[in-house]
Amino acid sequence: MQEQLSRAVKKLRGGGLVAFPTETVYGLGADARNEHAISKVFAIKKRPIDHPLTIHIATIEQIKDWAINIPDLALELAKSFWPGPLTMILPKHPKVSNLITGNQNTIAIRIPRHSLTLTMLQQFGSGIVGPSANTYGRISPTSAQHVKQDLGSKVDYILDGGQCEVGIESTIINITNNTPQILRQGVITQEDITKIIGNDLLFINTIEESTIKVPGLDKTHYAPIKPLYLVESQEFLAIAKFMSQQGLNYSYLSFQECFIKDDKIIWIQAEQNPLLYARNLYTYLHQLDLTNNAKGIIVEMPPNGSKWQAIIERLTKASNGKLTVNYSPSHCKPL
Ligand code: TXA
Ligand code: MG
Repeated sequence: MQEQLSRAVKKLRGGGLVAFPTETVYGLGADARNEHAISKVFAIKKRPIDHPLTIHIATIEQIKDWAINIPDLALELAKSFWPGPLTMILPKHPKVSNLITGNQNTIAIRIPRHSLTLTMLQQFGSGIVGPSANTYGRISPTSAQHVKQDLGSKVDYILDGGQCEVGIESTIINITNNTPQILRQGVITQEDITKIIGNDLLFINTIEESTIKVPGLDKTHYAPIKPLYLVESQEFLAIAKFMSQQGLNYSYLSFQECFIKDDKIIWIQAEQNPLLYARNLYTYLHQLDLTNNAKGIIVEMPPNGSKWQAIIERLTKASNGKLTVNYSPSHCKPL
């Protein structure tokens, strides 16, 4: 592995782009002190220039290289959840390039939990920017193969660390105000954070409510190329039956066993456990999106409960809102 790590570090030092594994999703890495490298990240992702990037570091001590006025709360959270799927928004250090932060005076920071990437960061010795390694708005990659499919040769090197363990992006918490706010949900839930910092958490879920620029809060995000319809669980079977009776080729992500006897149909039976569901979600969506020429993807809504919230958030963004299909033959609309 040392050979791959040395190559990755060398590419980063030379201003190249290196896709790297984390426990959440693969990141598109560049030297956070090299503006030319950072601007390539925006270009390759086709990401709007005012959408800020996250800095990945190797140790808690390195926070002070990127942020100032670090509240005790941040250190408590770092000690509890790092390395791990939590991104903290802190007041930005004046030396940090405005290109990274979209001219905001705050900065997003995290220590990822993946041994290869942690070693790469240690050997590199500084921070790297790391948005998810996908074209802007598309499904995040959870394997080196996904990165290859989406960005291919535009990336200088892909450090292959296998399938991501968590599978959805980190929880983001803003701690630049008196009241910490969760800006993006993840497998570290509000309850987990509340256990460490007490009860004063606010949620912000839509761009309308937020004055902060967070692309994950745009209405459509994490989206397959095919239209995705998120339907209520009690309607799901009737809809699938109707589509199949009409001979319509849709792909399905459901908790239930496939009952359509048609080899052309792709039907994935998802796990009932939210951690396993999250781990496989983007792999399933990539598969449902790219395997055949189905008209769209129909996803059964997961159950309520705090452990499913981050997943429901991703699916809702991917579908551009919850959709209830009227599947009676005369009103069947999503077609
Ligand atoms: O799990 C993750 O966080 C992955 C892995 C690679 O670490 N990274 C990731 O990066 O999801 P990205 O860029 O796809 O999403 C980071 C989110 C973006 O929505 C970005 O706008 C937001 O963090 N963000 C970054 N800096 C911010 C800031 N100063 N204020 C508010 N939001 C910020
Ligand atoms: Mg992203």
